Amino acid sequence: MRIAEISPADVDAVVALWEEAGLTRPWNPPAVDLQRALDGATSTVLGGYRDDRLVGTVMVGHDGHRGWVYYLAVAASERGAGLGRKLMQAAESWLTANGAVKLQLMVREANAQVIGFYTRLGYADADVRVLGKRLD
Ligand SMILES: CC(C)(COP(=O)(O)OP(=O)(O)OC[C@H]1O[C@@H](n2cnc3c(N)ncnc32)[C@H](O)[C@@H]1OP(=O)(O)O)[C@@H](O)C(=O)NCCC(=O)NCCS
Repeated sequence: MRIAEISPADVDAVVALWEEAGLTRPWNPPAVDLQRALDGATSTVLGGYRDDRLVGTVMVGHDGHRGWVYYLAVAASERGAGLGRKLMQAAESWLTANGAVKLQLMVREANAQVIGFYTRLGYADADVRVLGKRLD
C-alpha cells in the first residue's frame, strides 16, 4: 500500500470510504471536514492506495503539543491485512515530523469494538474525560 496526502480528485472516494466505515454523522458534513484538514497548516489527510485505488485514510493534526488522529478507516474488503496498522504508523510519523510529542484520539462509545485494535498497537486509556461543546 502506498500512503500519500489525499488529492482533491479523491474527495468523493474519501467520503464514500468514511460512510462505508460508519464514521460520518449528519451534523458533520464529511467533505467539509476533509477540506478543512487539507487546507489547514497543521493538519492533513493521508490516503492508503492499492494500485491507485483508495483503500484507507487517516486524518492528522496537531496543536503544537498534542497530535490528534481522526477518520481512521480501511475499506471493509481490505481489513485484517495490516493496513490499519500501517496508516497509524504513517500518522505517528507525520505527527512526529511536525513536532507533536503526544498522540491522542477519541473513540465513540458506540464503537467500543475498535478499542482492541488500538490496544494491539500500544495505545492505552489516557484516563481523562473529554468534554465538548459545539460552537457553530
Ligand atoms: C479499525 C480499522 C481501521 C482496523 O484496520 P485493519 O486494517 O483491519 O487493522 P490491521 O489489520 O492493521 O490490524 C492490526 C492489528 O490489530 C488487530 N485488530 C484489528 N481489529 C481489531 C479489533 N477490533 N479488536 C482486536 N484486535 C484487532 C489485528 O488482528 C492486528 O493484530 P496483529 O498485527 O497483531 O496481527 C478498521 O477495522 C476500520 O476501518 N474500522 C471502521 C472504522 C473505525 O472504527 N475507525 C476507528 C475510529 S476511532
